[in-house]
Amino acid sequence: MTRKIIIDCDPGQDDAVALLLAFASPEDFELLGITTVGGNVPLELTHRNARMMCDIAGHQDIPVYAGCGEPLVRPLVTAEAIHGETGINGIDAFEPETPLQDMHAVDYIVQTLLAADDASITLVPTGPLTNIGTAIDKEPKILPKIEQIVLMGGAMREGGNRTPSAEFNILVDPHAADIVLRCGRPITQLGLDVTHEVLSTRDRVERIKALGNPVAEATAGMLSFFDRFDTKKYKSRGAPLHDPCTIAWLIRPELFEGKACNVAVETESELTMGHTAVDFWHVTDRPINVNWIYAVDADGFYELLIERLARFGE
Ligand code: RIB
Ligand code: CA
Repeated sequence: MTRKIIIDCDPGQDDAVALLLAFASPEDFELLGITTVGGNVPLELTHRNARMMCDIAGHQDIPVYAGCGEPLVRPLVTAEAIHGETGINGIDAFEPETPLQDMHAVDYIVQTLLAADDASITLVPTGPLTNIGTAIDKEPKILPKIEQIVLMGGAMREGGNRTPSAEFNILVDPHAADIVLRCGRPITQLGLDVTHEVLSTRDRVERIKALGNPVAEATAGMLSFFDRFDTKKYKSRGAPLHDPCTIAWLIRPELFEGKACNVAVETESELTMGHTAVDFWHVTDRPINVNWIYAVDADGFYELLIERLARFGE
């Protein structure tokens, strides 16, 4: 069954690989459009980077929209230290042929959902949730049209990656995350607890490079750069491939383990701003609102990624 999806992202190397994995999976997805948000790097770079991926993958037909450059309330925080000044260091940036659509991403999300059947479109946010939160706030009538939201963000056991208690996507716009987590639609949330299990180790990057097609080579180049920060910080064997976990879960949910939980976000304390409180052991009476993903077959994830990237050489 092909699923209608909208990917909302802030490329970032890992967002870029999530886009490539979706492009390589036409039997799983009808990718209606890509919306972009300020996050890893400012908006003018995230939409450029998303359009670069459309060019590299030969999908100049996919409409790309620019959305919110700043979070709802807080100032934008970016992550050039991790992603490089272009946001996708590891490959040479270029001005893509894929055009930027004139419509604002939030208007595109609202217009597309209002015109859709109930529960017919899956939203896949892999950056700060500003566009999604703004769309829900602007037009709540879109909610019944959302089949589910599959997002990368948050953390429980792993703690924070940008502050001691907050994961980057949620930290950047905790107010938008709060709107999304309270929206009442089915949410599957993939946080650092699972994404820190899918490390782009040297042998996995070499296997991707050995595929020998331009998309795989671009992926290996991005991952080779993306590795350096996390391996130094966590003394790990490679950088976690956060965002492609959303797409992989949609393709092969059996690779993952999840649990129905309440997840709430801190929007007031500066000390713990953006913290996701995951009620994994149901110790509160807060309502279940999330399928919290906490484990993955990492080898199975990379087999899927490599199998799909190989398609670009066929
Ligand atoms: O914390 C990891 C998340 O923040 C990923 O989505 C990465 O691309 C950055 O946006
Ligand atoms: Ca991202």
